[in-house]
Amino acid sequence: MSDAIIVKEAYKKFEKQGQSFWQQLLKKNNKNGSSLNGDNGSNKNGHINKNGSSQQIQADLNLANANLQKNNGNGHSQGKNGKGHRIIVAVDKVSFTVKENEIFGVLGPNGSGKSTLIRLIATLLLPDDGELKVFGYDVVKQPRKVRALINRVSVEASFFKKLSPMENLLYGARLYGLPGGETRKQVVQILTRLGLEERSIYSPMEEMSRGMQQKVAIARALLSQPRLLLLDEPTTGLDPRSKRDVQAVVRELRDDFGTTMLLTTHDMHEAEVLCDRVAIIDGGRIVALDTPQGLKQLIPHNGSEPTLEDVFLELTGKQLKKEEDEVPA
Ligand SMILES: Nc1ncnc2c1ncn2[C@@H]1O[C@H](COP(=O)(O)OP(=O)(O)OP(=O)(O)O)[C@@H](O)[C@H]1O
Ligand SMILES: [Mg+2]
Repeated sequence: MSDAIIVKEAYKKFEKQGQSFWQQLLKKNNKNGSSLNGDNGSNKNGHINKNGSSQQIQADLNLANANLQKNNGNGHSQGKNGKGHRIIVAVDKVSFTVKENEIFGVLGPNGSGKSTLIRLIATLLLPDDGELKVFGYDVVKQPRKVRALINRVSVEASFFKKLSPMENLLYGARLYGLPGGETRKQVVQILTRLGLEERSIYSPMEEMSRGMQQKVAIARALLSQPRLLLLDEPTTGLDPRSKRDVQAVVRELRDDFGTTMLLTTHDMHEAEVLCDRVAIIDGGRIVALDTPQGLKQLIPHNGSEPTLEDVFLELTGKQLKKEEDEVPA
Protein backbone atom coordinates (compact mmCIF):
# COMPACT_ATOMS: atom_id res chain seq x y z
CA MET A 1 0.00 0.00 0.00
CA SER A 2 1.44 3.40 -0.92
CA ASP A 3 1.53 6.50 1.26
CA ALA A 4 -1.29 8.99 0.78
CA ILE A 5 0.12 11.60 3.15
CA ILE A 6 3.64 12.04 4.45
CA VAL A 7 4.19 14.75 7.04
CA LYS A 8 7.75 15.26 8.28
CA GLU A 9 8.60 17.71 11.02
CA ALA A 10 5.84 20.08 9.87
CA TYR A 11 6.04 23.41 11.65
CA LYS A 12 3.66 26.35 11.44
CA LYS A 13 3.61 29.47 13.56
CA PHE A 14 1.23 32.41 13.63
CA GLU A 15 1.99 35.96 14.58
CA LYS A 16 -0.82 37.48 16.58
CA GLN A 17 -0.81 41.15 15.67
CA GLY A 18 -3.94 42.36 17.33
CA GLN A 19 -4.22 42.62 21.07
CA SER A 20 -7.07 40.97 22.83
CA PHE A 21 -9.72 43.03 24.57
CA TRP A 22 -8.19 42.15 27.92
CA GLN A 23 -4.70 43.16 26.85
CA GLN A 24 -5.94 46.49 25.48
CA LEU A 25 -7.83 47.18 28.67
CA LEU A 26 -4.83 46.30 30.77
CA LYS A 27 -2.56 48.55 28.72
CA LYS A 28 -5.02 51.43 28.97
CA ASN A 29 -5.34 51.00 32.70
CA ASN A 30 -1.58 50.81 33.10
CA LYS A 31 -1.18 54.09 31.21
CA ASN A 32 -3.87 55.81 33.23
CA GLY A 33 -2.33 54.62 36.45
CA SER A 34 -5.86 54.15 37.68
CA SER A 35 -6.14 52.17 40.87
CA LEU A 36 -3.29 50.10 39.54
CA ASN A 37 -1.68 50.15 42.87
CA GLY A 38 -4.95 48.93 44.14
CA ASP A 39 -5.08 51.53 46.88
CA ASN A 40 -8.32 53.45 46.71
CA GLY A 41 -10.33 52.18 43.78
CA SER A 42 -10.30 55.60 42.05
CA ASN A 43 -9.71 56.30 38.36
CA LYS A 44 -7.21 58.76 36.89
CA ASN A 45 -9.51 61.68 37.55
CA GLY A 46 -9.65 60.77 41.12
CA HIS A 47 -13.26 59.61 40.90
CA ILE A 48 -14.05 56.80 43.16
CA ASN A 49 -15.29 53.79 41.31
CA LYS A 50 -18.97 53.65 42.24
CA ASN A 51 -19.14 49.97 42.90
CA GLY A 52 -15.68 49.87 44.38
CA SER A 53 -14.78 46.95 42.13
CA SER A 54 -11.73 48.40 40.39
CA GLN A 55 -9.37 46.42 42.58
CA GLN A 56 -11.16 43.23 41.67
CA ILE A 57 -11.13 44.15 37.95
CA GLN A 58 -7.42 44.88 38.16
CA ALA A 59 -6.78 41.60 39.94
CA ASP A 60 -8.69 39.80 37.19
CA LEU A 61 -6.75 41.68 34.51
CA ASN A 62 -3.44 40.85 36.11
CA LEU A 63 -4.38 37.21 36.31
CA ALA A 64 -5.61 37.20 32.70
CA ASN A 65 -2.42 38.84 31.56
CA ALA A 66 -0.23 36.46 33.53
CA ASN A 67 -2.02 33.58 31.87
CA LEU A 68 -1.75 35.14 28.43
CA GLN A 69 1.96 35.63 28.84
CA LYS A 70 2.55 32.16 30.15
CA ASN A 71 0.64 30.37 27.49
CA ASN A 72 -2.05 30.96 24.91
CA GLY A 73 -4.34 28.66 26.82
CA ASN A 74 -3.87 25.70 24.51
CA GLY A 75 -0.47 24.54 25.64
CA HIS A 76 1.23 25.89 22.53
CA SER A 77 4.79 27.16 22.63
CA GLN A 78 4.60 30.89 22.62
CA GLY A 79 7.01 33.79 22.43
CA LYS A 80 7.28 37.33 21.14
CA ASN A 81 8.95 38.67 18.03
CA GLY A 82 10.92 41.92 17.78
CA LYS A 83 7.72 43.95 17.31
CA GLY A 84 6.22 42.56 20.49
CA HIS A 85 3.68 40.46 18.56
CA ARG A 86 2.80 37.15 20.10
CA ILE A 87 4.03 34.09 18.22
CA ILE A 88 1.92 30.96 18.47
CA VAL A 89 3.41 27.69 17.28
CA ALA A 90 0.24 25.99 16.03
CA VAL A 91 1.92 22.89 14.53
CA ASP A 92 5.16 21.95 16.22
CA LYS A 93 7.40 19.48 14.34
CA VAL A 94 4.59 17.06 13.58
CA SER A 95 5.46 13.84 11.70
CA PHE A 96 3.18 11.01 10.58
CA THR A 97 2.20 8.98 7.53
CA VAL A 98 -1.27 8.05 6.28
CA LYS A 99 -1.56 4.95 4.10
CA GLU A 100 -3.70 4.92 0.99
CA ASN A 101 -7.24 3.69 1.80
CA GLU A 102 -6.83 4.50 5.47
CA ILE A 103 -9.23 6.48 7.66
CA PHE A 104 -6.93 8.48 9.90
CA GLY A 105 -8.31 10.46 12.82
CA VAL A 106 -6.84 13.50 14.52
CA LEU A 107 -8.10 14.24 18.01
CA GLY A 108 -7.10 17.13 20.21
CA PRO A 109 -8.44 19.86 22.47
CA ASN A 110 -9.76 23.12 21.00
CA GLY A 111 -6.90 25.11 19.55
CA SER A 112 -4.46 22.19 19.55
CA GLY A 113 -3.61 22.62 15.85
CA LYS A 114 -5.91 20.15 14.03
CA SER A 115 -7.40 22.57 11.52
CA THR A 116 -4.03 24.19 10.91
CA LEU A 117 -2.59 20.76 10.11
CA ILE A 118 -5.44 20.09 7.66
CA ARG A 119 -4.97 23.47 6.00
CA LEU A 120 -1.27 22.76 5.56
CA ILE A 121 -2.03 19.44 3.85
CA ALA A 122 -4.73 21.15 1.74
CA THR A 123 -2.15 23.74 0.48
CA LEU A 124 -4.19 26.55 2.05
CA LEU A 125 -1.35 27.47 4.38
CA LEU A 126 2.39 27.30 3.80
CA PRO A 127 4.47 25.52 6.42
CA ASP A 128 7.32 27.46 8.01
CA ASP A 129 9.41 24.32 8.08
CA GLY A 130 9.24 20.60 7.40
CA GLU A 131 7.89 18.61 4.49
CA LEU A 132 4.36 17.58 3.53
CA LYS A 133 3.55 15.28 0.62
CA VAL A 134 0.23 14.06 -0.80
CA PHE A 135 0.49 10.98 -3.02
CA GLY A 136 4.13 11.89 -3.53
CA TYR A 137 3.49 15.53 -4.48
CA ASP A 138 5.00 18.28 -2.37
CA VAL A 139 2.35 20.70 -1.04
CA VAL A 140 4.70 23.68 -1.40
CA LYS A 141 6.35 22.86 -4.73
CA GLN A 142 3.44 21.12 -6.49
CA PRO A 143 0.26 22.58 -4.96
CA ARG A 144 -1.80 22.21 -8.17
CA LYS A 145 -1.04 18.51 -8.39
CA VAL A 146 -2.06 18.13 -4.76
CA ARG A 147 -5.28 20.14 -5.20
CA ALA A 148 -6.35 17.96 -8.11
CA LEU A 149 -6.34 14.91 -5.84
CA ILE A 150 -7.93 16.25 -2.69
CA ASN A 151 -10.99 17.95 -1.33
CA ARG A 152 -11.76 19.35 2.08
CA VAL A 153 -14.82 19.81 4.23
CA SER A 154 -14.41 22.40 6.93
CA VAL A 155 -16.67 23.39 9.79
CA GLU A 156 -16.96 26.90 8.41
CA ALA A 157 -17.93 25.91 4.84
CA SER A 158 -19.09 28.90 2.80
CA PHE A 159 -21.88 29.02 0.25
CA PHE A 160 -23.88 31.47 -1.79
CA LYS A 161 -26.68 31.62 0.75
CA LYS A 162 -29.37 32.91 -1.65
CA LEU A 163 -28.74 29.97 -3.98
CA SER A 164 -29.97 26.43 -3.49
CA PRO A 165 -27.76 23.42 -2.73
CA MET A 166 -28.21 22.33 -6.36
CA GLU A 167 -27.02 25.72 -7.67
CA ASN A 168 -24.12 25.84 -5.22
CA LEU A 169 -23.01 22.33 -6.09
CA LEU A 170 -23.34 22.86 -9.84
CA TYR A 171 -21.19 25.95 -9.44
CA GLY A 172 -18.63 23.96 -7.44
CA ALA A 173 -18.68 21.17 -10.01
CA ARG A 174 -17.99 23.61 -12.85
CA LEU A 175 -14.84 24.74 -11.07
CA TYR A 176 -13.70 21.14 -11.27
CA GLY A 177 -14.75 20.90 -14.94
CA LEU A 178 -17.47 18.32 -14.24
CA PRO A 179 -20.32 17.92 -16.77
CA GLY A 180 -23.65 19.58 -15.77
CA GLY A 181 -26.17 16.84 -16.63
CA GLU A 182 -24.33 14.04 -14.86
CA THR A 183 -23.61 16.29 -11.88
CA ARG A 184 -27.33 17.10 -11.39
CA LYS A 185 -28.09 13.41 -10.97
CA GLN A 186 -25.17 12.93 -8.62
CA VAL A 187 -26.15 15.93 -6.48
CA VAL A 188 -29.61 14.44 -5.90
CA GLN A 189 -28.13 10.99 -5.26
CA ILE A 190 -25.52 12.16 -2.77
CA LEU A 191 -27.76 14.59 -0.89
CA THR A 192 -30.62 12.13 -0.51
CA ARG A 193 -28.07 9.50 0.55
CA LEU A 194 -27.00 11.93 3.26
CA GLY A 195 -30.61 12.21 4.39
CA LEU A 196 -31.56 15.58 2.88
CA GLU A 197 -35.17 15.90 1.69
CA GLU A 198 -35.40 16.35 -2.05
CA ARG A 199 -37.33 19.63 -1.83
CA SER A 200 -34.48 21.19 0.24
CA ILE A 201 -32.14 20.62 -2.68
CA TYR A 202 -33.91 23.42 -4.55
CA SER A 203 -34.51 25.85 -1.65
CA PRO A 204 -32.12 28.70 -0.72
CA MET A 205 -29.25 27.64 1.53
CA GLU A 206 -30.11 30.43 3.99
CA GLU A 207 -33.29 28.55 4.88
CA MET A 208 -31.36 25.47 5.92
CA SER A 209 -30.20 24.51 9.41
CA ARG A 210 -26.46 24.26 10.15
CA GLY A 211 -26.58 20.48 10.05
CA MET A 212 -28.28 20.49 6.66
CA GLN A 213 -25.69 22.92 5.33
CA GLN A 214 -22.97 20.65 6.63
CA LYS A 215 -24.38 17.81 4.53
CA VAL A 216 -24.29 20.03 1.46
CA ALA A 217 -20.65 20.82 2.23
CA ILE A 218 -19.88 17.11 2.38
CA ALA A 219 -21.75 16.47 -0.87
CA ARG A 220 -19.77 19.23 -2.58
CA ALA A 221 -16.50 17.64 -1.54
CA LEU A 222 -17.63 14.22 -2.79
CA LEU A 223 -18.58 15.46 -6.27
CA SER A 224 -14.96 15.80 -7.39
CA GLN A 225 -14.29 12.18 -6.30
CA PRO A 226 -11.10 13.07 -4.43
CA ARG A 227 -8.49 10.42 -3.72
CA LEU A 228 -7.88 12.11 -0.39
CA LEU A 229 -10.69 13.69 1.56
CA LEU A 230 -9.83 16.02 4.43
CA LEU A 231 -12.72 16.23 6.85
CA ASP A 232 -12.45 18.88 9.54
CA GLU A 233 -15.13 18.04 12.11
CA PRO A 234 -17.53 16.70 9.45
CA THR A 235 -20.21 15.67 11.95
CA THR A 236 -20.09 18.59 14.37
CA GLY A 237 -23.60 19.96 14.75
CA LEU A 238 -25.30 16.96 13.20
CA ASP A 239 -28.06 15.07 14.99
CA PRO A 240 -27.36 11.40 15.85
CA ARG A 241 -29.08 10.02 12.75
CA SER A 242 -27.33 12.47 10.44
CA LYS A 243 -24.02 11.62 12.12
CA ARG A 244 -24.58 7.98 11.31
CA ASP A 245 -25.49 8.85 7.70
CA VAL A 246 -22.22 10.73 7.30
CA GLN A 247 -20.21 8.01 9.01
CA ALA A 248 -21.76 5.39 6.73
CA VAL A 249 -20.85 7.47 3.68
CA VAL A 250 -17.28 7.79 4.94
CA ARG A 251 -17.04 4.00 5.24
CA GLU A 252 -18.61 3.48 1.81
CA LEU A 253 -16.19 5.90 0.22
CA ARG A 254 -13.27 4.00 1.62
CA ASP A 255 -14.65 0.53 0.89
CA ASP A 256 -16.17 1.17 -2.55
CA PHE A 257 -13.92 3.88 -3.97
CA GLY A 258 -10.68 3.44 -2.03
CA THR A 259 -10.79 7.04 -0.82
CA THR A 260 -8.25 7.93 1.85
CA MET A 261 -9.58 10.12 4.63
CA LEU A 262 -8.06 12.28 7.31
CA LEU A 263 -10.66 13.54 9.75
CA THR A 264 -10.79 15.54 12.92
CA THR A 265 -13.52 15.06 15.46
CA HIS A 266 -14.41 15.83 19.05
CA ASP A 267 -16.59 12.74 19.11
CA MET A 268 -14.52 9.95 20.68
CA HIS A 269 -17.05 7.29 19.72
CA GLU A 270 -16.88 8.41 16.10
CA ALA A 271 -13.09 8.19 16.14
CA GLU A 272 -13.27 4.74 17.62
CA VAL A 273 -15.78 3.26 15.17
CA LEU A 274 -14.49 5.01 12.07
CA CYS A 275 -10.73 5.40 12.25
CA ASP A 276 -8.07 2.81 11.52
CA ARG A 277 -5.55 4.89 13.41
CA VAL A 278 -5.80 7.99 15.54
CA ALA A 279 -3.27 10.71 16.37
CA ILE A 280 -3.87 12.73 19.53
CA ILE A 281 -2.40 16.20 19.40
CA ASP A 282 -1.95 18.70 22.16
CA GLY A 283 -0.29 22.09 21.93
CA GLY A 284 0.64 21.47 18.28
CA ARG A 285 2.45 18.19 19.04
CA ILE A 286 1.48 14.58 18.55
CA VAL A 287 1.31 13.01 21.99
CA ALA A 288 0.14 9.56 20.83
CA LEU A 289 -0.54 7.74 17.58
CA ASP A 290 -1.97 4.24 17.32
CA THR A 291 -5.10 2.24 16.54
CA PRO A 292 -7.99 3.11 18.89
CA GLN A 293 -7.36 -0.24 20.59
CA GLY A 294 -3.63 0.44 20.86
CA LEU A 295 -4.24 3.87 22.38
CA LYS A 296 -6.29 2.30 25.14
CA GLN A 297 -3.29 0.24 26.20
CA LEU A 298 -1.29 3.40 26.80
CA ILE A 299 -2.88 4.37 30.06
CA PRO A 300 -2.96 2.40 33.28
CA HIS A 301 -6.22 0.70 34.13
CA ASN A 302 -7.42 -1.59 36.86
CA GLY A 303 -9.69 -4.24 35.48
CA SER A 304 -12.04 -2.42 33.11
CA GLU A 305 -10.72 -1.23 29.79
CA PRO A 306 -10.40 2.57 29.49
CA THR A 307 -12.44 4.40 26.86
CA LEU A 308 -10.89 6.56 24.17
CA GLU A 309 -12.20 9.53 26.14
CA ASP A 310 -10.20 8.37 29.19
CA VAL A 311 -7.11 8.21 26.99
CA PHE A 312 -7.81 11.64 25.53
CA LEU A 313 -8.27 13.21 28.97
CA GLU A 314 -5.18 11.51 30.37
CA LEU A 315 -2.91 12.46 27.46
CA THR A 316 -4.11 16.02 26.90
CA GLY A 317 -4.91 17.06 30.45
CA LYS A 318 -1.46 17.16 31.98
CA GLN A 319 -0.43 20.52 30.57
CA LEU A 320 -3.71 22.09 31.65
CA LYS A 321 -3.32 20.67 35.13
CA LYS A 322 0.24 21.97 35.36
CA GLU A 323 -0.89 25.45 34.29
CA GLU A 324 -3.69 25.46 36.84
CA ASP A 325 -1.14 24.60 39.50
CA GLU A 326 1.07 27.48 38.44
CA VAL A 327 -1.60 30.20 38.56
CA PRO A 328 -0.79 32.45 41.51
CA ALA A 329 -3.31 32.35 44.33
N1 LIG B 1 -5.05 32.45 11.03
C1 LIG B 1 -4.59 32.40 12.27
N2 LIG B 1 -3.96 33.44 12.80
C2 LIG B 1 -3.47 33.40 14.06
N3 LIG B 1 -3.55 32.31 14.86
C3 LIG B 1 -4.18 31.24 14.38
C4 LIG B 1 -4.73 31.21 13.06
N4 LIG B 1 -5.29 29.99 12.86
C5 LIG B 1 -5.10 29.29 14.00
N5 LIG B 1 -4.43 30.05 14.91
C6 LIG B 1 -4.02 29.61 16.25
O1 LIG B 1 -3.36 28.36 16.10
C7 LIG B 1 -3.72 27.49 17.17
C8 LIG B 1 -4.32 26.22 16.58
O2 LIG B 1 -5.58 26.53 15.99
P1 LIG B 1 -6.43 25.45 15.18
O3 LIG B 1 -7.56 26.17 14.54
O4 LIG B 1 -5.53 24.68 14.30
O5 LIG B 1 -6.96 24.53 16.37
P2 LIG B 1 -7.96 23.29 16.33
O6 LIG B 1 -7.24 22.14 16.96
O7 LIG B 1 -8.52 23.10 14.98
O8 LIG B 1 -9.11 23.77 17.34
P3 LIG B 1 -10.70 23.46 17.34
O9 LIG B 1 -10.87 22.10 17.98
O10 LIG B 1 -11.24 24.55 18.24
O11 LIG B 1 -11.20 23.55 15.94
C9 LIG B 1 -4.68 28.27 18.06
O12 LIG B 1 -3.91 28.83 19.11
C10 LIG B 1 -5.20 29.35 17.16
O13 LIG B 1 -5.56 30.50 17.89
MG1 LIG C 1 -10.43 23.22 14.17
